Formats: sequence, C-alpha cells, structure tokens
Amino acid sequence: MRALDIIEKKKQGLVHTKEEIDFFINGYMNGQIEDYQMSSWLMAVCFQGLNFDETAYLTESFINSGDKLDFSDFGVHVADKHSTGGVGDKVTLVLIPLLASLGVACAKLSGRGLGMTGGTIDKLESIPGFNCMLSEDKFKEQIRKINAAISAQTPNLVPADGKIYALRDVTATVDNMSLICASVVSKKIASGADIIVLDVKYGSGAFIKTREEALELADLMIKTGAKLNRKIDAVISSMDQPLGNCIGNSLEVIEAIEFLKGNMAPDLYDITLEIASRTLMLANLAADFDDAKNLVDDAINSGRALDKLTEIIEAQGGNKNVTDDYSIFNIGKNKFELKAQFGAYIKKLDALEIAHACKLLGAGRDKKSDKIDFGAGCVLNFKVGDKVSKDDILLTLYYSDNVSKERLSEAIDHVNNAYKFSIEKIDKQRVV
Ligand code: URA
Repeated sequence: MRALDIIEKKKQGLVHTKEEIDFFINGYMNGQIEDYQMSSWLMAVCFQGLNFDETAYLTESFINSGDKLDFSDFGVHVADKHSTGGVGDKVTLVLIPLLASLGVACAKLSGRGLGMTGGTIDKLESIPGFNCMLSEDKFKEQIRKINAAISAQTPNLVPADGKIYALRDVTATVDNMSLICASVVSKKIASGADIIVLDVKYGSGAFIKTREEALELADLMIKTGAKLNRKIDAVISSMDQPLGNCIGNSLEVIEAIEFLKGNMAPDLYDITLEIASRTLMLANLAADFDDAKNLVDDAINSGRALDKLTEIIEAQGGNKNVTDDYSIFNIGKNKFELKAQFGAYIKKLDALEIAHACKLLGAGRDKKSDKIDFGAGCVLNFKVGDKVSKDDILLTLYYSDNVSKERLSEAIDHVNNAYKFSIEKIDKQRVV
C-alpha cells in the first residue's frame, strides 16, 4: 500500500477499505506519512466525502491510536457529555454536579478553548487552586468517591485526533461532517463512558451554521456510536445568541453557581434539563421526561446540586468558598456599559460579535500558548425577544488595565454590531 495511491483514490471519489484507512492513520502517527500527504487526503475528503462505513473505520482507527479508559469494573453506568462548542456555554459546569447529585457517575474529560472564549478547563481553572490535570487513577478514584470528576484530556487519549485536528485547523479542513464525527465520537468512546449525550450547536456562534447541518451531524454521530457498540444520544441547540447571561471564564463559573442556587437563565435551564433528562433516562434513573424534570428541579431546589459542585471543587484542590464569596474571583476591574439608544424589542444578539469582543478583552486565545485573562468578559442584561427602554444597560464589558484603548474600542464596535432592534414585538427563541 502507498500513501499516494490512497490520496489518488479519494481524489477520484472512490471508497476506502478499513485496511487503507488504518494504514493511512497509522502511517501518519508513526511518521511514515507526512503532513502534506495527510493535508492532501483531508482536502480530498472535504470534496469527495466519506461514506458511513469509511467514517466508522476512521473513528475506530482514531480510537485505536492511543489509550482508552475503561469503567467496566465500576458496575454502574458512567455518563459523559460533549458540546460542539459555543459562546457562553457553561452547561458542563451545572450539568455534571447536577447529575452526580442524582446518583449518575460522571466522567468528564474536557478541553481548553482555542476559539473566542475559553473551554470548560479554562473556566474551572479560574477557580483558585482548581486542578484539572488528574491522573487516570485519581480521576477514577474521585468518581468512585463522589460520583464526578472533570479533567483535561491527556495527550495519550486519541493522539491521532490531536495531531490531525491541528492540521485541519490550518488547512481549512475542519468543516466536514465525517471528519468532525470521527474526531468527536472517537474521543468520547475512548473516554470510556457508556452513556454519551452530545450537544450539537448551530448558529452564528457555532462552527455549524444551520439546523439542518446540525441534524445531519447528530444523526451521523449517533449511528457511528451504534456501529461501534456505544449508545449515543444528541440534542440540537441554537447558538445564534450566547447561552445564558455571562460570557468569559470567571463570569461563567459565577453564573453556573447562581444557576445551582436557583437563579437560572431560561435558555441555560432548558438545555441543561434536556441533556440531564436524556442522561437520566439512559441510566434508568427516570422513567420519562416529566420524571426527570422533577428529579432535576428537586436537586437544584434542595441545594444538593450546589453541594455537589462544592464537593467537586474541594476534591480537585479548588477554593470551595467561591460558591459563597465571588470576590475570590479576579473579575476585570474596569467596566463599559452599553446602553439602549431607544425603546424597542431585541431582534438579534449575535453570538459571534459578542465572542469577538470578549476575546479582544482577553477571554479567549489565538494560539495554544496564549494566556487567558479569566476576569475578562461580558454580562448581558437582555436577550432576544426582550423589550428595552431608552438608556437601559444592554450589557457590561469587564476588562483589566492591560487592555489598550484601541482594543477596547474594537470590542465596543463588536458589541454594537451584535444588536438589531425591532419596534414590532419579537418572539423569544427556543434554544433546544
Ligand atoms: N470539535 C472536535 O472535537 N472536533 C472537531 O472536528 C470539531 C469540533
């Protein structure tokens, strides 16, 4: 077999065998296939596509490229969730303690953000002392003890995805359904959970722009999971406007804590409930959606879900007082308030523009090595469908002294561009 023949085959739109895909991925991982050959094949895949079997072979080959976690000796269901990424997406921060407080063992491996705002690991690291670099033994031990652990994915888990994703990122080959499916599903299967719920986001703040594409991707991931003997469920959710009210690492943790105290943004509640109820049903802990909703509401209203978050923070070395004392967070001490110029309904609140603004203030990174400012971000006071009066504060930006006047002014331009108003009444958007 030669790499050149495999690239030529895909260029012509022909179908690969499992052996060919394994040869190509293994060859790339052991250095016999070069970056330029992999890039060329990835581009051929973007134009010609992979069929369902090829997608499953690729996913399997990714899984076999590294370590796999195994929870089969736990004797209980182990759950995991994954979001394809969005602005203000702090669902993991509320969902994991919530489910763990309801008796679901949660093994959550997450990433750092390489986009507009931080990933779950960045958000958690905004809690002083919080350790996201758990060894496999410590990760498992903590789940056994308190039902949940949230850790950064180690480089040995699906290394093929790590290496190929870095190449896709710089060769305009990210947005192919089969490549995304193999990347996401391989990581989730290798992470060892037997219940996996995916949150596939679409809209201006997601890399998938339409609901139809999100449905197609969700369907492909569910079927690929089934082919590899893993039960996967999925939720489709809109990312046209940010999720919840806070964007930025520390601010999102504060919003998550408030959520678990019962102060819930309706969109964040809807999506959390949807994912939680699917997980509870798959774990045979709820009979139906209504049953699951009662369990979820009770876990929040009783304070058990918040107690579980405090327990997770303490177990991972974080300052557990953050749930009572937000001054422990280092929030940007400078503020900019954007005010409404006239009374109207909010018609649009573009997630991507808000994300651009937050990134300019330091909430996200361009390169892996960039340092995030945990305290930078934005708090929204209104969402699409809300009526505002002249001079109402639409949002507040938080930033540190390190932000130059030029950067701040660019960020303000972005938040101004985010809004469209209507004199006519606008219906609230459903997120799920
Ligand atoms: N997220 C992933 O983990 N992989 C992709 O390919 C795209 C989004």
